[in-house]
Amino acid sequence: MEISSKIGFVETPLEIAKLMLNLSNIDKNALVLDTGCGRGIFLQALRDQGFINVWGIEIDKELYEYCKENFKDFKIILGDFLTYTFNHKFDIIIGNPPYVHFNQLPLEISNIVKKIIKTGEGDIYYAFTIKAILLLKEGGELIYILPYHFFYNTYAKFVRETLLKFGKIEIIIDLDEMRLFNNENPETIIFKFRRGRYDLKNEKIKLLNIKTRKTNSVEIYKKAVGSLNNDISNELFDYVEIPHYMNPDLWSTFVVNIPSPLASYFTRFTQINKPNTILIITKDSVSFERILRATRKINELNVMNIGGAKCEITIGKKRYSGIRLKGIEEYSDIPKIQELYKNEGFELAKSVKIKKETDSMIRVNKFFNLKEVSDGIYQSLNDKDRYYFIIPKNLDWDHFREVTFDIKNNINVTGYDVAKGIFYNNDGIVEMVRIIKPNITLDMVKEVHQKYIDRLK
Ligand SMILES: C[S@@+](CC[C@H](N)C(=O)[O-])C[C@H]1O[C@@H](n2cnc3c(N)ncnc32)[C@H](O)[C@@H]1O
Repeated sequence: MEISSKIGFVETPLEIAKLMLNLSNIDKNALVLDTGCGRGIFLQALRDQGFINVWGIEIDKELYEYCKENFKDFKIILGDFLTYTFNHKFDIIIGNPPYVHFNQLPLEISNIVKKIIKTGEGDIYYAFTIKAILLLKEGGELIYILPYHFFYNTYAKFVRETLLKFGKIEIIIDLDEMRLFNNENPETIIFKFRRGRYDLKNEKIKLLNIKTRKTNSVEIYKKAVGSLNNDISNELFDYVEIPHYMNPDLWSTFVVNIPSPLASYFTRFTQINKPNTILIITKDSVSFERILRATRKINELNVMNIGGAKCEITIGKKRYSGIRLKGIEEYSDIPKIQELYKNEGFELAKSVKIKKETDSMIRVNKFFNLKEVSDGIYQSLNDKDRYYFIIPKNLDWDHFREVTFDIKNNINVTGYDVAKGIFYNNDGIVEMVRIIKPNITLDMVKEVHQKYIDRLK
C-alpha cells in the first residue's frame, strides 16, 4: 500500500497500543472510538482484549478500506474526525492522531483546525485532542500518544485549558525521544485523561519518565505496566506522583526541584514528599532587592514564611535566572506561590526539556547569619550542622568538582555535602565552601578545610 502521501500516517507499534489500552479502567462493553485508525493497530489491540463496541474513523480511503475489510466486527467510518457529527458520546477514545503542523495541512483542514484550537496556528493533533475531549461521556477516558509540545507551546493553550476545564489527567508516560515510529523522532508522551468534575487541587498525576532510549516497545509495555501496577520505579521508568496542573500558563513554566542538599547520599533511598528547595525560573534576571521585597510582601499578605533568594542555574551550557524558594509546605502550593510572584510582576520562563544526566550548577545570592568559630571557619547561627570555610583561591566548576571528589575519597569524614560560594566582606570578595552534614563537629570541618588548603596551596 502506498502510504507516504497520507496526512500524518505513522504506524504505532502494537505493544504501545496494548500499553495504552491497559491504562483504561473501563469494562469491555465500553463504547470505544479510534480516531484516525490507519491500518487498525488499535483496533487489533481492542479486539485482542475482547472489546466489542468499537468504532474507527479514517480520512484516507485506502486505509479505511483496509480496516473495513479486516475489522468487519467493528464500525468503521470514512470521514474527517474533526468535522464528522457523531450522534452519541464515547466511553473511551484512543489512538495516535496525526501530527502535522498547520502550514503543511491542506487549506480546508487547516481552516478547521484553526477554528477548533482558537489560534492562528498550531498542529492538527491539538484539534484532535480538543474534539476528542468534547466527545467523551462523563467519566470517559481519552488515551492518546502525542508529541510533548502541547505542554508548553503557546498555541496549545486552548488544549491545556480544555483539559483542565473538562476533567483531569491521570497518567503521563514520558517516552522522551524514543524512536518508536519509523523515521519520525518526536518527543512523545502517552497520557490518559478522564472527563468529569474534579477538585484538581487534590488530584495527583502518575508520571513515568523513561530512563534510557536503549530499549524496545516490548520492554516499554512490560515495565510501564509493572511500574504503574505497583506505583514504583524500576530499571526502565522513574515513577513519581505530581500535583495536578491548575493553570494553563503555569503548567508550562520552568520549576526546578532540589529534593535534598544531601541528594547523592540519601534521596535515592527515600521518598521525598515535602519540597526542600524549589527554583522558579524567571524570563529575565531580576535583582536580589526586588526578590527580597516581593518575598517580604508575599509573606506578610499571605501569612507565609517562605525564603526567597536570587539564583542562577546553569544546566549543561545554558544559564537561567530565577528565585530560589525555601519553606514551601507542599508541592501543591507551588502554583499558588508562582501566581503570587507573577502578581508582583515577575515573568516566569517556559519549561525546557533537559536531557538526562546533564550537569548543573546553582548559584544563590543570600545573606548569612554566621559566627567565626575558628580561623577562616564560620558556623551558621540558624543551622548548627552548616559551616562555611574560606579557601585560598577561586576554582571553576570542573576544577572544584575534581578537587572535591578527590578529597572525599581521601578522608575519614563521610556523608557531607559541599558547595562553593563567595563572601563579600570589607576587603572585597573571598572564596568559601559551604559544608553540611547532620551532627557535624568543628573538628570534622577543620579536617575537610585543611584538605582544601593543602590541595589549593
Ligand atoms: C499517526 S497515524 C496513526 C494510524 C493508526 N491509528 C496507528 O496508530 O497506527 C494518523 C492517522 O490519522 C489519519 N487522519 C489524518 N487526518 C485525519 C482526519 N482529519 N480524520 C480522520 N483521520 C485522519 C491518517 O490518515 C492516519 O491514518
